[in-house]
Parts: sequence; C-alpha cells; structure tokens
Amino acid sequence: MNKFRFGKYGETDVMSQLIGENYPALLVMSRFGIALGFGEKTIGDVCRENGVDVHTFLAIINLIANGNRIPLSFETNISIDSLIDYLHNSHDFFLNYRLPEIRKKLLKVLNKDEDNLNKAVLGYFDKFVLEVNNHMMNENRKVFPYVKSLQKAENKNKCSLVFSKPHEQIEMRLTEFKNILIKYYPAQSTHEINDVLFDIFNCEKDLASHNAVEEYLFLPAIVDLENKIRKSS
Ligand SMILES: [Fe+2]
Ligand SMILES: [Fe+2]
Repeated sequence: MNKFRFGKYGETDVMSQLIGENYPALLVMSRFGIALGFGEKTIGDVCRENGVDVHTFLAIINLIANGNRIPLSFETNISIDSLIDYLHNSHDFFLNYRLPEIRKKLLKVLNKDEDNLNKAVLGYFDKFVLEVNNHMMNENRKVFPYVKSLQKAENKNKCSLVFSKPHEQIEMRLTEFKNILIKYYPAQSTHEINDVLFDIFNCEKDLASHNAVEEYLFLPAIVDLENKIRKSS
C-alpha cells in the first residue's frame, strides 16, 4: 500500500518521487505555476527552471509532509514575496474553483423529495463559503499589502494582529457541514454523495494545510520582519 513519506525533503530529491510519495504536493506545484512533465529532474532544478524560490517551496512541502505540524525551527530562508504569491493563488483556487465545484456537485446529488432539508444544507454551505470568502479577501486586500509596505519600510507600525486567526472556526464549519451530510442526509445515490464527500474531505485537508502555511511560515516571517524594522529604526 502507498504510504505518505514523512520527514524532510531537500532540493536534491527527485520531483516525481516527491509527488509519488505525497500527492498533495501536486497542489503546491500548481500554485507555484509548475507544470508536470519534469522527468527525473530534482526539486531544486525544477524550481529554478520555473523561477520558483526553492527554500519557500521546500518549507511548504515539508510542512505538509509532516502533517501540518509546527516546524521545529524558524525557517529563515523563506521568500515573503513567493509565499504571498503562493497564498494568493491558493485563495483563487478555493474561491474560484474548489468551493464552486463542490456546490455544483452538491446541487446534482440533492434528494428531490427533501425540499426543506436541501434549503438548509445549501444555506449552511453558502454561509461557510461567505465566511471563507471574507477571510481570504481580507488577507488579499489588507494583510498582503500591509506586508508589502513593511518590506519597503513604508510602514513602521507593528500590526501583525491584522492577521488574527479565525482559522479554527472556518475549519470547524466545514467539518460540521460534512458531519451533517454523513449523519442526517438521506441521499438517493450513495456513489454520488460519496463523491461529494470525498471532495469535502480533500478540501478540509487542503484548507488545514493552507492555514498551517499561514500560521507557521507566513506569520513568523512577518513578525521577524516587523522586529527587524523596529530594531533598525
Ligand atoms: Fe489564506
Ligand atoms: Fe487565513
């Protein structure tokens, strides 16, 4: 049976092997704009050829490969610009692809005889999507520009708290939604509802990884930058 490999990947590891051992790495690659078809090339070579910062790519890969657990040491070599691009592309993926696709599938599998229940299920899902949307748009419109202004030393106010974390709440809502379907929804076709549920399970995992990247890699990098600016001023 295929098992995920845990532990650190380095730039001399082969990219195709990383994908074989940890398929969620596919999502990381696409968010960095790396296409498939890299033969036997190493992670370092593929990143360099695609103009991707190797340290940032590996920091994200290793965080996910280690079950989103907090890294043992602070990642000093991360590129904040690359991380912002990555997070921005992830937001785009969730808001414009993953969540609308789940809704489309959900609409197809709803039981025609359960009008009231359907309204409640869709209402719950839409409320969840709105919450995710507000959260991610706040990061796009406030947090990322704030960090960019910090980098240009235009902003000397310490306010990493704008990046407060209602992440648990978002993750909890999706888990709750999944449980409502599992425990109470009288689906007509188990194959089709299972298909939606598999997508929700995957989305739940992907969202948890996204949040871990923000909390364990991005936030410490911002705090470090703020401290450096304060010391130098
Ligand atoms: Fe985010
Ligand atoms: Fe977030």
